[in-house]
Amino acid sequence: MTAFLEAINLRKTFLDPTRSTLLALDGLSLLVAEGEFLAIVGPSGCGKSTLLRLLAGLERPISGQVRLRGQPLTAPRREIGFVFQRANLMPWRTVLDNIALPLIVSRSGQTRQAQAKAREWVTLVGLEGFAHAYPAQLSGGMQQRVALARALIHEPTLLLLDEPFGALDALTRERMNSELLNIWDRRRVTVVMVTHSISEALFLADRVLVMAPRPGRVRAEFAVPLARPRDRALITEPEFVQLVRAVRAEISDV
Ligand SMILES: Nc1ncnc2c1ncn2[C@@H]1O[C@H](COP(=O)(O)OP(=O)(O)O)[C@@H](O)[C@H]1O
Ligand SMILES: [Mg+2]
Repeated sequence: MTAFLEAINLRKTFLDPTRSTLLALDGLSLLVAEGEFLAIVGPSGCGKSTLLRLLAGLERPISGQVRLRGQPLTAPRREIGFVFQRANLMPWRTVLDNIALPLIVSRSGQTRQAQAKAREWVTLVGLEGFAHAYPAQLSGGMQQRVALARALIHEPTLLLLDEPFGALDALTRERMNSELLNIWDRRRVTVVMVTHSISEALFLADRVLVMAPRPGRVRAEFAVPLARPRDRALITEPEFVQLVRAVRAEISDV
């Protein structure tokens, strides 16, 4: 596998409230191929968000290195899109202006083009008719779609998702899963997604990593040999149920 994204022996510490050192990640290595959909699961506090921030270049490790196409990644880049657990939209800006914001910020003076592109993304994430709505007028699922569009407007080559659908009801979550798979399929973006839903991880990904806590590290890895396109009905099939069981065993056994 040619590595598109690499984490090599990452170590990250924090000071906890008692001023002692907390080893958030230690010896964490992973490889992600170009175009791959990788999911990461693990108990709360095992360092998943920390890992994603390192992969995004938003934070630096104490030691070890993140590489994108073989080049050390030391700062955020436009080609990396990030969606957090909460949509973090600007409440005073409309849907359209929230989506256009990254373009407006990075290329001042081309507001009209940014708006035109944002309008395309409004349609792509199924928010036609809501372009001029404000975040407070949207459901949680719609807000997450705005956040996804905002992350995708720069046409990232790498999309990092930190429990993006955690706050959504089951039906909306399924719809968002399908939309995400469509975007991944059409745009050929490489995805690393943290989720605490084992079945979501297996339904979406090519490969699932299980992390273990104290210190955060990769404990197990599962290839997901399920054909695509994947249909919802898949999740009740024996092969899928067996995979869920195998992943769960690795998580609960930490
Ligand atoms: N900014 C921070 N300051 C201090 N401790 C942190 C900080 N961020 C994360 N941690 C600690 O690092 C560990 C891993 O956190 P996190 O990456 O958020 O885990 P996860 O996303 O898997 O729940 C936790 O023990 C958490 O309390
Ligand atoms: Mg987290």
